[in-house]
Amino acid sequence: MTLDTQKWLEMDRQNIFHASTHLKQYAHGEIKGRIITGAQGIRITDSTGIELIDAFAGLYCVNIGYGRSEMAEAIYEQAKKLAYYHTYVGHSNEALIELSDRIIKMAPAGMSKVYYGMSGSDANETQMKIVWYYNNVRGLPQKKKIISRDRGYHGSTIAAGSLTGLDTFHAHFDLPLSRIKHTLAPVYYHRADHDMSEREFSHHCANELEKMILAEGPDTVAAMIGEPVLGTGGIVPPPEGYWAEINRVLDKYDILLIADEVVCGFGRLGSDFGSLHYDMKPDLMTIAKGLTSAYQPLSGVIVGDKVWKVLEQGTDEWGAFGHGYTYSGHPIGAAAALCNLDIIARENLTENARDTGAYLQQRMHETFADHPLIGDTRGVGLLHALEFSSNKAERQHFDPSLKVGPQVAAACLEQGLIARAMPHGDILGFAPPLVVNRDDIDNIVERTAKAVNKVTDQLVRSGDFKTRDKVTA
Ligand SMILES: Cc1ncc(COP(=O)(O)O)c(C=O)c1O
Repeated sequence: MTLDTQKWLEMDRQNIFHASTHLKQYAHGEIKGRIITGAQGIRITDSTGIELIDAFAGLYCVNIGYGRSEMAEAIYEQAKKLAYYHTYVGHSNEALIELSDRIIKMAPAGMSKVYYGMSGSDANETQMKIVWYYNNVRGLPQKKKIISRDRGYHGSTIAAGSLTGLDTFHAHFDLPLSRIKHTLAPVYYHRADHDMSEREFSHHCANELEKMILAEGPDTVAAMIGEPVLGTGGIVPPPEGYWAEINRVLDKYDILLIADEVVCGFGRLGSDFGSLHYDMKPDLMTIAKGLTSAYQPLSGVIVGDKVWKVLEQGTDEWGAFGHGYTYSGHPIGAAAALCNLDIIARENLTENARDTGAYLQQRMHETFADHPLIGDTRGVGLLHALEFSSNKAERQHFDPSLKVGPQVAAACLEQGLIARAMPHGDILGFAPPLVVNRDDIDNIVERTAKAVNKVTDQLVRSGDFKTRDKVTA
């Protein structure tokens, strides 16, 4: 089908309320739209025929790459056999049973059951209900607060959006909920004391957490949630020893740990889960995105033995667990997840994330570490971030109104590359599909370098950035 793009965009502006969009500017045609018509491998195509390398895998979710007919067939076969039945009161389906067995075997030791939803946000809502119920069963009704981190991202519904530690998701929505607290984000680059080693900084973050627990009252704090690697808040791998320090504090005060594995799970870091990568010891885990590579919406909460035993006890006392979605355990989602996990295993995509990921880190570092516009270049596996700074030595931020991150993302688009301007700070994020090879990485780095140089040049010309280094666009 060929589209009359202008006509379709007009219909789009008239009828669609888009996510994370300046509503007025978009509705009135002041910002451009794009209609995606096809995709293959690491590339997407729009209705005007423009092809772009998607170095962010959609929203870091299309891990096996686009256009896999094997996935379409698995979905089709399941839809023909059993498109839907609910999973209430012990009803199940074969795809779901097989998938759950597989997830529990992949997960860290001590994980017991999987509860299914459709999005990372709803899974984190489920986490909160589980945690509150858990402490009600234990006779600790006052132990309900959940500590998240500044710059954490856990979704955008009322409760999950409260767990998120980014102002845009709170301001003007009357969030966060009062039971949610946010502690220091482990961003080593922005540590206040520049002389601290990574280990000292991890210790400092754990101390800040402990101070918060003591100030709130340990008997009021139920859980902490964290992404193994901070994602949407700026793609920040934890400083050395961070999770061991956090685990130590949480254990001391009988506080559960929820690992939000929505981005890190299923291979992105070069390990099955971020928890395994960093030896986190979660009691609960949240999964989504890479579980199906977004070919179907599916998320899950993996519940560890310790919590599961208490949930069982609760239902003994109070009857059925009052939580369920019509689409929990959807068979088509489960079939998509199974096929996706088969592809990841057969094509060694987790190993590729580790090996080609190491190449991505190396190429980014050698290309940008000394670039005048770039304060920090960091990442792990197939996750990377470039953070722009107006003064490299002082680690200073640009004036946000200059929108340096979005400017570089726009310049990348001109180079045929999608990299994501992260919503906090001037940070450009990369999370390509796990099928990338070294040539793709070279291509991504070269296009990014042209974009970064172009924006540097513009900023120098406009007087918004001062550097003595010569930069050629
Ligand atoms: C770590 C993390 N948790 C939760 C979510 C929310 O997932 P969803 O957008 O599917 O609700 C996201 C989305 O980006 C995420 O990155």
